[in-house]
Amino acid sequence: GGKVAVADLCLRVERGECFGFLGTNGAGKSTTFAMLTGATAPTSGDALLHGLSSRHEQPQIRRQLGYCPQHDALLALLTARETLRLYARIKRVPPAAIEATVESLLLDLDLARFSDKPAGQLSGGNKRKLCITRDHPRLGIALVGAPSLVLLDEPSSGMDAASKRFLWAAIKRRTLECCTVLTSHSMEECEALCGRIGVMVGGKLRCIGPIQALKSRFG
Ligand SMILES: Nc1ncnc2c1ncn2[C@@H]1O[C@H](COP(=O)(O)OP(=O)(O)O)[C@@H](O)[C@H]1O
Ligand SMILES: [Mg+2]
Repeated sequence: GGKVAVADLCLRVERGECFGFLGTNGAGKSTTFAMLTGATAPTSGDALLHGLSSRHEQPQIRRQLGYCPQHDALLALLTARETLRLYARIKRVPPAAIEATVESLLLDLDLARFSDKPAGQLSGGNKRKLCITRDHPRLGIALVGAPSLVLLDEPSSGMDAASKRFLWAAIKRRTLECCTVLTSHSMEECEALCGRIGVMVGGKLRCIGPIQALKSRFG
């Protein structure tokens, strides 16, 4: 008799694809991500990442997974640069490559000016950028040839227009190297980034397909 947050969700996202996950607040998008990342256990069902089970092989999956949660989960006292170093280590970037990787990531999302500022003192939009950057698939490059799944939960919320464009360009640049799933409330964002979208209503996936096809069918 309890609330069912996500029911009978079934879909496949290919490598090189950016998939847009849409739905009103409470539709079940973040819960889906929570299940994929192992933060919440599903009552039933499973998801596979290149054959790895999200229920039984979480440790292997986590090394290949980039996750930007809806609510910024940053360590307030670490600077932007320290945050990226920490994640580079967790993702097993070879020690000799850490500094170069971190610097290029800071440039990638226009965070270089804030690299020595504690994360807790960054503006909302820059916190978002840091969350997105630290799980950049390039941090997983130590695993040669490894697949990467990138989950971005409302990545651009709170960002100004210029930062959004910058973020979109960064997401586009790396789309081909991995598999990206993002949630958004902005059609403009989905049109800029996503090949296909799916719309969730009350925990169920109600329609899925290329944006143009859904638009011409449902208006
Ligand atoms: N920890 C929780 N305990 C109980 N209900 C929850 C919990 N997390 C989410 N929910 C409920 O599950 C539904 C889906 O939430 P969520 O996945 O956050 O939606 P979305 O990200 O699409 O806005 C909502 O009705 C929400 O209230
Ligand atoms: Mg959410």
